[in-house]
Order: sequence, then structure tokens, then C-alpha cells
Amino acid sequence: MREFSMFNHFDELDQESKYLAHKAKDAANHAHAPYSKFTVGAALILEDGTVVTGANYENAAYPSGMCAERVALFAAAAQHPERRIMKIAIVAKKKGGKDLVPATSCGPCRQVMLEFEMNQKKPITIVMQADDTSWVVAPSAQSLLPFSFTRNNLDSHHKK
Ligand code: THU
Repeated sequence: MREFSMFNHFDELDQESKYLAHKAKDAANHAHAPYSKFTVGAALILEDGTVVTGANYENAAYPSGMCAERVALFAAAAQHPERRIMKIAIVAKKKGGKDLVPATSCGPCRQVMLEFEMNQKKPITIVMQADDTSWVVAPSAQSLLPFSFTRNNLDSHHKK
């Protein structure tokens, strides 16, 4: 497993990651986050260069909302089922705030990323803001979820 890459400043990221982070920032402007006032954007790039974005959409019945990452991942799969997902960038802003704040994907989003990367047999690179200034590039969803639960667990159960 490749290591996480840490960058002390946004400018140190590779061009593609910066491009996706900018797209994610634009998408965050479309978030519907009246309850948390925490707007998140995600932008992913497919193997052919197509970019698909998502934003978090909350609901008065709180659990009905959805994170930006899963909005983007499910939209990409629904629209381009045959294309692999290469990289996803996630950014967040406080409503009304100008600066980005850290948003290191939640467990369920990591779990969803993991199933995508297993299905496509190719890791997804994940770009996230780690703290006030630094950024992390994770080589795969698997690297963010040690001892994860996957369909292999279900299959091994059935084979018994
Ligand atoms: N959220 C995301 O969209 N992605 C993350 O990585 C963290 C959390 C959303 C969910 C909810 O709408 C708001 O941020 C506060 O948790």
C-alpha cells in the first residue's frame, strides 16, 4: 500500500488535484445545508477526463440528507457506469465563510468509495484538506479503511 502524501499548502498539490478541488469548491456553492451550515463539495474525475461533482443536501428529517462525496459517486455511476473513477477531491466551507475548512470524508463515504474501487479493480485517489493549511492525498479508499467490511465477507459466509 502506498503511503499517504501530505502537503503543507494547497499550492503544493499536483495540477489535477488542484483543478478538482476548485471544481469541488464551486459545487459546494450548490450545497443545501441550512441545518449544519457546513457546505461540502466533491469533484471526481473519470478515466476519460469527465468531471462529476456533488454537494451535500440536507433535509428537515436529518438522516434523509446526503454527503457531497456520495452524491458525486452515485451520480457518476448512474450517468457513466462503464467509466472508472480515478480521483475525488473534497472541500468544505462554513456557510458565509470565505476560507476552506477541513472535511476528511466520513466513514460511510469511505465505505462507498471502497466498494466502487473494488468493483472497478482500480484504486481511487482521495484528496482532502487535513487541517487549516495542509492537504492529504490518500492512494485508495482501502488505505482509509483498514479491516474493512466488503462483499468478500458476505461471500465467505455463503460458501460455508
Ligand atoms: N458532510 C459531507 O458532505 N461530507 C463530509 O465529508 C463530511 C460531512 C456533510 C454532511 C452534512 O450535510 C454536513 O456535512 C455536516 O455534517
